[in-house]
Amino acid sequence: MKILGISGSCRKEETSGVFQLVKAVLENTGMEFDLVSLRGKKIGGCIACLGCAEDNICKVNDDMSALRDKIVTADAYVIGAPNYYSTLNAVTHSFLERWFQFRHQEGSTLWGKLGVAVGVGGMDGRFPANDIEKFFLYNFVETIAKVDGQGAASCYSCGYGETCGVGAPQMMYGKDVKITPEMIPDVRKQPEVMAKAAEAGRLLGKRLTDGHDRQAVTQKMQQQMMEMLKGSV
Ligand SMILES: Cc1cc2nc3c(=O)[nH]c(=O)nc-3n(C[C@H](O)[C@H](O)[C@H](O)COP(=O)(O)O)c2cc1C
Repeated sequence: MKILGISGSCRKEETSGVFQLVKAVLENTGMEFDLVSLRGKKIGGCIACLGCAEDNICKVNDDMSALRDKIVTADAYVIGAPNYYSTLNAVTHSFLERWFQFRHQEGSTLWGKLGVAVGVGGMDGRFPANDIEKFFLYNFVETIAKVDGQGAASCYSCGYGETCGVGAPQMMYGKDVKITPEMIPDVRKQPEVMAKAAEAGRLLGKRLTDGHDRQAVTQKMQQQMMEMLKGSV
């Protein structure tokens, strides 16, 4: 059993809330894992060329090609993304769009696998976590847990955070704010968030080792998908 972790943050590992939370989930699974950061990777969105229709292999040549095998061989996914404009950031969206390659001719490569969705926002991390859950559903991957936390908005480090009237520091602490290291949000200083990440990891490890029945999960997710589609027409 192997888990693939993906951090969709553009920031360095040390400063990324997403990376830290995805890592915390993975470390608590007790299972073998691979943690890949999308930072600096060139991954474009799906271009709908249908080059993958025949064999379920994307023909676009960029950094996604090297990740295909890891996606195929993983039994579960822990995917995290930052909140950009109340949705996923672009590289995570592109990465997940490219899962289109697995869908054709009832391609069941991803069906019935398990997932944890992680989101981090300067204000709200729930949006990207919910978006990842939706991508999972389209691939009949069950989201067994969602984890969200508050990360450091760029306004704390851009150099103008104390004087900018529309930046996060003034919005949170008022006009006379003086930025101190203690006030900069960091998921590692949020015990309830770290506890949720640990709990999600333990649950994922348990689900994978307790006779994970991919066929049963697939059926459950297909049912959920039908309900979602019925609700949207
Ligand atoms: C282009 C951009 C747009 C953002 N939009 C939002 C937003 O709409 N809501 C929010 O809560 N945070 C927003 N943020 C703040 C990030 O979500 C925050 O910095 C988070 O910590 C990023 O995760 P990371 O540290 O793992 O990179 C935005 C940041 C950037 C760079």
